[in-house]
Amino acid sequence: MNSFIIQGNFLESETPNKLKISGQSFLPVENGQCRGVFPLIPEQYQGLPVTDFGDRLILPGMTDLHVHAPQFAFRGLGMDMELLDWLNTYAFPEEAKYAELSYAEKAYQGFVNSLLHSTTTRASVFATIHPEASLELMEQLERSGLRTYVGKVNMDRNCPDMLREESAKSALEQTERWIQAAMDRFANTKPILTPRFIPACSDALMSGLKELQRQYELPSQSHLSENYGEINWVRELSPASSCYGDAYDRFGLFGGDHPCIMAHCVHSGDTELDLIHRNGVFIAHSPESNINLASGVAPVTRYLELGLHVGLASDVAGGSNISIMQAMMHAIQASKLRWRLLDENVKQLTLEQAFYLATVGGGAFFGKVGRFANGYEFDAVVMDDSSLFHPQPLELRSRLERMVYLADDRNVFAKYVAGARLF
Ligand code: GUN
Ligand code: FE
Repeated sequence: MNSFIIQGNFLESETPNKLKISGQSFLPVENGQCRGVFPLIPEQYQGLPVTDFGDRLILPGMTDLHVHAPQFAFRGLGMDMELLDWLNTYAFPEEAKYAELSYAEKAYQGFVNSLLHSTTTRASVFATIHPEASLELMEQLERSGLRTYVGKVNMDRNCPDMLREESAKSALEQTERWIQAAMDRFANTKPILTPRFIPACSDALMSGLKELQRQYELPSQSHLSENYGEINWVRELSPASSCYGDAYDRFGLFGGDHPCIMAHCVHSGDTELDLIHRNGVFIAHSPESNINLASGVAPVTRYLELGLHVGLASDVAGGSNISIMQAMMHAIQASKLRWRLLDENVKQLTLEQAFYLATVGGGAFFGKVGRFANGYEFDAVVMDDSSLFHPQPLELRSRLERMVYLADDRNVFAKYVAGARLF
């Protein structure tokens, strides 16, 4: 891969509480890797071609740690229910349509195109139970140049016939065939084991998925402690578990020996948080979804203080918006209401912290991703905020804050993933 230099205004997270702002600077990129940001071009990089983005803002690419591709088609609809009714009324009937490959092809184009033009460079994606449609989604994501994990979903109980795998045995056979097909076919689109959530997965299915994890060395993703009705149900289904997280951990599908993402963790208690910490589980914080489904507000600043891995997620279509910029805004807004109405001991989320979650927090699931420091993969979005009028020049931090609240796809001027320019 070629090497080059990017010129412009760089903003990145140095720590969860501190931005590193480098106005009019230079970032050498070698073989897809950042070499750090410098005020002048260092001696050893002189002669490399320079791309000058002028006065625009250059930000690390963002990670969407949890999104449902087949729910993209009904985003912004059906916001009148809580989780379990919402799944039965809206999500499951829509996902059942993906048995039809031609429907999947068309619907996934909308999702991938939208993701491509957002500020997201990495994502961990749920597909549906259908192996062919899941491969179609992976095909399209691979062509996009984004770097993703995609999960063929597993669910073999407590869901409607139209979207239930026939048995644990056939679910595992189909999942293994899908893993083998996906591992051979794609470079940047990786399979991730995806038991939907405890209520929808039998013990036999969970044990079999752990076997597949050992055999193929795959990460896993699922949902955790999102909604009160769901949590009570898990207590009934898995009475011996010390907490919801333990219902996964009993099968070895809760981090530890393999990376794991758990979406939501809105109502995780101390036992569960301790397990999350010990096992290095990544929390996918999905503030807009948690508002829309009236799930609650996760105490995300507390999670940061505890040193947990946390990233942001759109959770489309619980979340209506695929933008991680908007997820930052919603995370900040939700934290303020939580602080005001529920618990003044958990501080409000700052812009710095939200930006950290969007870049470094979620990026860490993919390795050295989310910064411009030496050795990090060069994922970047170049934001053009010239359409946002202000009568006086603004500081770079203020311009970033405005992007968080006001940016849409039209402000994304250019995008790089692992050193490759996508547009
Ligand atoms: N829990 C199980 N499935 C889902 C889903 O599709 N969306 C959300 N938000 N939570 C879930
Ligand atoms: Fe979800």
